[in-house]
Amino acid sequence: MTSPPPSIRIRPSILYFGTPVLLITSRNPDGGTNITPMSSAWALADRVVLGLTGGGQGLANLEREREAVLNVAAPALWSAIEAIARATGRDPVPAWKSEVGYRHVPDKFAAAGLTPCASTQVKPPRIAECPLQLEARVVEVRRRDLAAWRADAGHFAVVETEVVAVHAHADVVVPGSDHVDPTRFDPLLYVFRHYVAGGERLGRTFKAEV
Ligand SMILES: Cc1cc2nc3c(=O)[nH]c(=O)nc-3n(C[C@H](O)[C@H](O)[C@H](O)COP(=O)(O)O)c2cc1C
Repeated sequence: MTSPPPSIRIRPSILYFGTPVLLITSRNPDGGTNITPMSSAWALADRVVLGLTGGGQGLANLEREREAVLNVAAPALWSAIEAIARATGRDPVPAWKSEVGYRHVPDKFAAAGLTPCASTQVKPPRIAECPLQLEARVVEVRRRDLAAWRADAGHFAVVETEVVAVHAHADVVVPGSDHVDPTRFDPLLYVFRHYVAGGERLGRTFKAEV
């Protein structure tokens, strides 16, 4: 193995080192559906933990309705996601967001050209185009102050969810099983604010079941 390159100390403005893009569908107060693109998420056992900045419609919906669908995006969806990247379901748009060009979009399904389909355990619909759709209930919402990082930043919330139903496109499921096929499931990744796809399969861990 060649020797590793030297490291230099840096102060990056973001730490988004690469996580899958989720589209959270949640129910608005008027019964409509909001879509929140996000990527600060991780899974352990039957839980998925989400990081959401304060002031968003998705977070307000999760706190009120206590349920959502976590739709895992595919690479082909990146431009549909970018079409709603500067949108919020919140009306009025928070000042810090309108200053950087965000606008209120009440129907993000239409704006992104995505298709809703009914869920089985929760009220918000799933997104048909997403290869993996996790119906989830909110277990706990913890608020975290961001003032130590940036005086005007407000807060973010750590939202712990329990996944209660999983749906997957048939072509990413190992036939006749409950396993997602890692050789065919290809999540869209968000890496330092770029959309990235096509992770090369290098090998399996000793715990892999397929
Ligand atoms: C690819 C992508 C990833 C994002 N990741 C997050 C995230 O992890 N947490 C977050 O709070 N916002 C994230 N955002 C920003 C939200 O989508 C944005 O604040 C949006 O206005 C929220 O919509 P809502 O107010 O309708 O919920 C991300 C946006 C994009 C396009």
